[in-house]
Amino acid sequence: MDVGIDRLGFYTPKKYIDIVELAQARDVDPNKFTIGIGQSKQAVPDIYQDAVTMAAEAANRVLDDDNRNEIGLVIVGTESSVDESKATSAFLMDLLDLPEDVRAFEIKEACYGATAGLQMAYNFVAMNPDKKALVIASDIARYGIKTPGEVTQGAGAVAMIVSQDPHILKLDNKSVYMSRNVGDFWRPTFSKTAFARGKFSNEIYVEFFTTLWKKFQAKYNVTAADFDTMLFHIPYTKMGMKALRTLEGQIPDDKYAELVDHYQKSIEFSRNVGNLYTGSLYLGLISYLVNGDAKANDNLMLFSYGSGAVGEIYSAKIVAGFDKYIDSDFIKKELNNRKKISVADYESIFSKELENGDTTALSTVHDKFYLSEIKENERLYKLTN
Ligand code: COA
Repeated sequence: MDVGIDRLGFYTPKKYIDIVELAQARDVDPNKFTIGIGQSKQAVPDIYQDAVTMAAEAANRVLDDDNRNEIGLVIVGTESSVDESKATSAFLMDLLDLPEDVRAFEIKEACYGATAGLQMAYNFVAMNPDKKALVIASDIARYGIKTPGEVTQGAGAVAMIVSQDPHILKLDNKSVYMSRNVGDFWRPTFSKTAFARGKFSNEIYVEFFTTLWKKFQAKYNVTAADFDTMLFHIPYTKMGMKALRTLEGQIPDDKYAELVDHYQKSIEFSRNVGNLYTGSLYLGLISYLVNGDAKANDNLMLFSYGSGAVGEIYSAKIVAGFDKYIDSDFIKKELNNRKKISVADYESIFSKELENGDTTALSTVHDKFYLSEIKENERLYKLTN
């Protein structure tokens, strides 16, 4: 039985800043941010948005009257959740009108959470073929104003429905993984922003990729020639390239050139949105499927990495007719219709948040799902009509 991704939906906030303007405001050569880091725009979430509202927006794009009642598992991968106890998925139950006979919970392991969720969903569907799983990656990536990581911030969510006979991507059930206690990135419970040993995190990321790629090749007796495309976790678009570059000179030049060309297609959306943390790999997948020359039966290698750290490489195959199940025009239109705001306005939004007793001014809401109120320290959400 084939199991994999049947639907893919993406949401990012409607405001963004221009990375050249950010560089100018920080007195940095813009080429460092646009070429050295590889970013063009950065999504800025509104005060009424968080991991819950963005997860709801992305999931709302993949759920319909037919598949909603077949869902038996709801997993949200996030490292920017709003509650230390209640899972993001619990808030989604009524926002998305999900059936009650589901297991709904949250997974945290930095940017690896959604991959853990996807693999769990694979096993769930393999054991329960009449059921589907909803896996959502939702995050606001925040390092703080005037920090080295500021240029690698971003926000958004990716939702996936996992089912038998999937319409987009068949998972091969081939995977290698590793975990190690590493101090490359962390966010203590008291802090809204992350702490990172940035350059160390780059080194660990590349080391995990090279180790896992060796393991994957040995375990399944494959080489780069067996893959049409390699997709990477993309905290910023230069990062995946650092891993891919380790293959230069190790594989035939034309294969390397093809993989680099496909990588460029996979980073187009991330370049214009920024870091989605655990959704980044899956935004790369969407970007490749929408902007690349993906064909039926193409073999993909996917490298997932979450600081702290867990890494995994797995493989998958593109399903014929996949393009009918991703609304490419809608995604492109939404990205093009976003509003550019000034760096000063971004700084002002960054420093504000709803406090206990506050309600959201409805006139400022430009999305379907929003944080409406914080009452007795409980976050309450609503839908606009
Ligand atoms: N023109 C073009 N490129 C330039 C440049 C210029 N004027 N100035 C610098 N660069 C290049 C550097 O050569 C470097 O390229 P390289 O990485 O290929 O060597 C790149 O821009 C970044 O410069 P660097 O001095 O290393 O930047 P930094 O000290 O500001 O740190 C990060 C960059 C990514 C480490 C930092 O943004 C960070 O900590 N981010 C958060 C952590 C993270 O995202 N980790 C990812 C792993 S999951």
